[in-house]
Amino acid sequence: MTDSNQFDSLETDWRLRLFDSLSFPTLVLRPDRTIIAANKKFHERNRTRIEEILGKTCQHIFREDNNLKHLSCNGSDCPLQGVIETKQTKSVVQKNIGTNGEEVWEERVFAPIFGDQHEVKYIIESLRDITAVKDLEKKYSDVRQLIDKVVQSSVSGIIAANRKGEIILLNKAAEELFGYSAADANSVTIEDFYPPGVARDIMKKLRDENIGEKGKLPSTQFNIVTKELEEVPVEMTAAIIYEEGKEAATAAIFNDLREKQAVQKKLEEAESQLFQSEKLASLGRLAAGVAHEINNPLTSILLYGNLMREKLEEEHPLASNLNYILEDAERCQEIVKNLLAYSRQTRPAKDVFYLNNLVGESLRLIRDQKLFMNVEIIKELDDYQILVNADKNQLCQVLINLIINAMDAMDGRGTLNLKTFRDRKAGKAFIEVTDTGSGIPPENLSKIFDPFFTTKELGKGTGLGLSMAYGILEENHGRISVKETGPEGTTFLLEFPEEPVSDEFHFMSIG
Ligand SMILES: Nc1ncnc2c1ncn2[C@@H]1O[C@H](COP(=O)(O)OP(=O)(O)O)[C@@H](O)[C@H]1O
Ligand SMILES: [Mg+2]
Repeated sequence: MTDSNQFDSLETDWRLRLFDSLSFPTLVLRPDRTIIAANKKFHERNRTRIEEILGKTCQHIFREDNNLKHLSCNGSDCPLQGVIETKQTKSVVQKNIGTNGEEVWEERVFAPIFGDQHEVKYIIESLRDITAVKDLEKKYSDVRQLIDKVVQSSVSGIIAANRKGEIILLNKAAEELFGYSAADANSVTIEDFYPPGVARDIMKKLRDENIGEKGKLPSTQFNIVTKELEEVPVEMTAAIIYEEGKEAATAAIFNDLREKQAVQKKLEEAESQLFQSEKLASLGRLAAGVAHEINNPLTSILLYGNLMREKLEEEHPLASNLNYILEDAERCQEIVKNLLAYSRQTRPAKDVFYLNNLVGESLRLIRDQKLFMNVEIIKELDDYQILVNADKNQLCQVLINLIINAMDAMDGRGTLNLKTFRDRKAGKAFIEVTDTGSGIPPENLSKIFDPFFTTKELGKGTGLGLSMAYGILEENHGRISVKETGPEGTTFLLEFPEEPVSDEFHFMSIG
């Protein structure tokens, strides 16, 4: 390597030593591409000796190098040509296969060596192994892709906005929650995602050191605003992203609360229903006990009273008193009967019948009552003949009770709607009784099915109608509930299992 002929002008020994000790494989070439020098590292890399390559062009060397066969040597692509034309350093990055078959990335850097006239006299080319850098780059991009995937596949909505409030990230779940596509999001700012003032409020809380850590907002419940301007309850956490101590962006994670709240509500409803039915069951046992105890003495009062009346002449001064006693005793008997129905101590006599007929019969039974005077009755009966299997007499009583309650609530003036329908899929039949009466105040809703609960004046209401209805429906595998109530009126809903149609029934009833 001390061969002084190697260089045209760099003959001095220390300069050669310097060239040889460069840690990158390096070549010196003439503008016509002939090689005039190669350092030790170059020979190590290429397993060459100086005699083999002197005077050859770079094309010879790199073209014979299997790794580099793909390189183009013509014109504009050639970095060496570029150096001559622009008098500036050029570089290319190449992927090669190393001696052990591994991937090796090299950067070939070409720099001009100028002559006295500032012409490019030589070109120095050095090869740098940048595999480690490339590996890091790849790892970084792999991690980035992974983070992207995690963000995109998150079931929580994730949004990030820059300092101006422009949306810089909107993952899939956020697109669904807010109704914006990532492209739509370019035309809105983060303020559009909240009701007025809320975005500002969130920023204030984020910066407040007393609320969570500085730059962090612990889980909070808010409403967000969708593209369709619908407000949706969410649980969110947010954070400011700092870069070199300065606020660069904010990111927030959202979870839709609608489903959770719906489940919560159902649970509360179920709990209160359970409480209600437990209460009614224990009241039922009490009522049954009382009814049984009273029933026997009552029976004998009525028996002996009636015997006495038969014996008394009509003009007897005590006859009218006895009549009062008997009337009230009969009233007591009626109450006992209702109590027994409520406590389910009377067995239903079940039969299959058409639901629409039930409505007709109940109305017929109370038709002549003067309380119908100014009430319009509308029947909306399902065209389909719905069948149920239940005690028709008992259900008639229930329906009559509901109708009388409705009349009472309307004070004799309004509209009564009786509707039958079914849910074929659920196998259920329904009757709705709707009035335009005064409605049931919320505080009474949990009490109306209690025996003896009444808001009516003494002597008018017994408070047994709905409790009896409740008992009868339970006994017939149905359910009674208040579907709706308010100042516009009340709707009671009765539901039963629908009886599947058998050919026999059709045949019988048609016949
Ligand atoms: N359709 C209705 N509209 C308004 N309130 C009603 C209606 N039905 C029932 N109620 C309320 O429920 C209470 C209990 O009804 P019920 O058990 O039939 O007893 P009663 O009719 O003897 O009062 C009534 O006193 C009334 O306050
Ligand atoms: Mg009643």
